[in-house]
Amino acid sequence: MQTRHLGSQQQPVSALGLGCMGMSEFYGPADDAASLQTLAAALDLGINFFDSADTYGLGHNERLLGEFIRQGGPGRRRQMVLATKFGIVREVGKYERRIDNSPDYIRQACDASLQRLGVEQIDLYYCHRRNPAVPVEETVAAMAALVAAGKVRQIGLSEVSPETLRRAHAVHPIAAVQSEYSLWSRDPEPGMLAACAELGVSFVAYSPLGRAFLTGAVDSSQLAEGDFRKNNPRFVGQAEQINRELVAELQGFAAARHLTNAQVALAWLLAKHPQVIPIPGTRRIAYLQQNAAATDYVMSPAEVAELDRIFAVERVAGSRYPEAGMVGIE
Ligand SMILES: NC(=O)c1ccc[n+]([C@@H]2O[C@H](COP(=O)([O-])OP(=O)(O)OC[C@H]3O[C@@H](n4cnc5c(N)ncnc54)[C@H](OP(=O)(O)O)[C@@H]3O)[C@@H](O)[C@H]2O)c1
Repeated sequence: MQTRHLGSQQQPVSALGLGCMGMSEFYGPADDAASLQTLAAALDLGINFFDSADTYGLGHNERLLGEFIRQGGPGRRRQMVLATKFGIVREVGKYERRIDNSPDYIRQACDASLQRLGVEQIDLYYCHRRNPAVPVEETVAAMAALVAAGKVRQIGLSEVSPETLRRAHAVHPIAAVQSEYSLWSRDPEPGMLAACAELGVSFVAYSPLGRAFLTGAVDSSQLAEGDFRKNNPRFVGQAEQINRELVAELQGFAAARHLTNAQVALAWLLAKHPQVIPIPGTRRIAYLQQNAAATDYVMSPAEVAELDRIFAVERVAGSRYPEAGMVGIE
């Protein structure tokens, strides 16, 4: 597996990370034993960058990673680059959220994450969503204090604007911005990618497979009860039909190159900029292997341009989140 680098510390990470969210919530039922095997398979494939958050399964995701680390011992911990997040506060069984960026909350949230993960330090600690009522300088100062205390190695921000990134970076180096970025979600182009390049900040692309829609493997009528995608505007009604036509074009592009849709979606992101690190989520070893192989395909500028055209912003139907999910997105 090729490596890329996190932020100004140049901490090496695998060019693809593993998004662990679906192992706890949002995409239907998950099985802890299978998830633990998938996590182990990731390390075997050279994928060492694991993405979690305190809100995923309300602590379940971090406990699962903690169990994985405990089972493998200190040697395993040293192999991993662990990223987690604070700031989204939800109640059991509810998607609606409030955002807490207050320094007191950040300190408590960090201690709780360290405990669930069973580690002494978080490699990359993100503010998951911004609360505009709290100046970002105050939030970043609280995060920087965690670095000074040795509880956190590097810090990051999720779903912020380039302006917020610049303000934050002036207080303490920001290692990474994590936001949704994929063929059908192009908000980071060009402003955020340019700001990251200028400041030496990595860009971690979440939901790089469009929550599986881009793979062509999702039948929205078959989604399990409670699956978040049942209420995602891009997966329902007329929008779904329009978006399916784009995925059919992607399918043609992929088949002509003996690739899968997922591999094309990931190779496209890797080709966009050397600081982009996609973190596809999966609970299955077969998908993990398929996704890892995407790093072997080097996409030409002409291929990137062709995919840019197929998924031009005006051709994609529906917003990327339901209204409740847009809270805290800049
Ligand atoms: N910062 C944020 O606000 C934020 C928001 C959302 C997500 N994230 C992070 O980003 C990670 C990735 O995003 P995501 O999980 O939302 O979406 P994603 O990576 O775009 O898609 C994940 C879905 O794709 C399926 N899949 C994976 N590889 C596949 C393949 N080769 N063929 C067919 N299907 C495949 C997975 O299925 P199975 O699970 O069944 O294997 C899962 O349903 C998350 O796990 C989380 O860590 C961050």
